[in-house]
This record gives sequence, structure tokens and C-alpha cells, in this order.
Amino acid sequence: KDCRTATIASTIRVIPDFPKPGILFQDITTLLLDVKAFKDTIDLFVERYKDKDISVIAGIEARGFIFGPPIALAIGAKFVPIRKPKKLPGEVISEEYSLEYGSDIMEMHVGAVQPGERALVIDDLIATGGTLAAAIRLLERVGAEVVECACVIELPELQGRKRLGDKPLFILVSAV
Ligand code: PRP
Ligand code: MG
Repeated sequence: KDCRTATIASTIRVIPDFPKPGILFQDITTLLLDVKAFKDTIDLFVERYKDKDISVIAGIEARGFIFGPPIALAIGAKFVPIRKPKKLPGEVISEEYSLEYGSDIMEMHVGAVQPGERALVIDDLIATGGTLAAAIRLLERVGAEVVECACVIELPELQGRKRLGDKPLFILVSAV
């Protein structure tokens, strides 16, 4: 593995009992405070995707909006926000996904992505995988090809990867 990933991992702060008792929150805001770690994070994604003919970076609200745009600019792809409900002003398509308690919805603008486009989905973290799975469904509904999903950090014990089916998932750092 690239030696930069160990340094990146060390900048992610772990906060116990946030937002609820028993949850170990992986806080990437401390990664953003470390100029080298943030740059290395973006560079590692860019090195992986720059020659993959990707025309769309789909970033997931909110923390996928931090990592997605610098990658998009560096590889020459457009950035498409995938947002929580009732935030996007234009015509949208929606996908519901289940949470531990209840469900949530993700939306994408109609017309933002064309059939046949090659898309990469970016978020900060995969937990149960429900959010990424909803993003994949949105992109595939408009005829895009989801080349891969990429996150900075994974909570492997939740096995979110399984919800992505055979879709490739790239992770920089694994939480333990
Ligand atoms: C977190 C995280 C991912 C999602 C992962 O976002 O940033 O987007 O949960 O969970 P899953 O794999 O179980 O679906 P959150 O919904 O807390 O909101 P935020 O990014 O807007 O802070
Ligand atoms: Mg999020």
C-alpha cells in the first residue's frame, strides 16, 4: 500500500458516542486541517482515476462535496451533486434507501448526466452502503455506467460493500 495512506489515516479523528451513544464517529474535518494529508488524499484518487475516461464525478451530500470537486477538476470531469431531498431546484429523480431506523432519499437533477457517460461516485465514508447504493441506482437509471465508487474510509464490520453488489469499491483507509 502507498505510504501516504497511513498518514492520512492518522489525521482522521475518532469521536466516541457521536451522534449517538455507542457510535464511533470518524471525523474527516481533522484530515482537512492537515494540508499534506488533504492533498495526498486528492492525489491518490486522481492518480487512480485520471486515465479511466471518467466524465462525471457524482458527489454525495454533504461530505462527498468536499472530496469530489477537487478530483473532478484534476481529471477534467464534471461534478454532479447527489443531494438530500428538496434541495435541488430543477427536475429530479429520487431513490429511497433504508437506514438503521427508517429511510432516507437521495436526489439528482434530470439532464445532469447523459446515457453512456462513465461516472465515479465519491463520498467520505461507507458504513451500511445504503447511500452509495442509492447513488448507483440514480446514475444507472439515467443510463450512466458507474465505473467505481470511492471513499476515504470504510467501516468494514458493517459490510456495506455487500450492498453494492458487484460494483467495485475503492477505499483509502479502513477503520478498525
Ligand atoms: C454519512 C457519510 C456517508 C453515509 C454513509 O453521511 O458521510 O454519506 O453516512 O452511510 P451508509 O453507508 O450507512 O449509507 P450522513 O448521512 O451522516 O450525512 P452528511 O454527509 O451530510 O454529514
Ligand atoms: Mg455523508
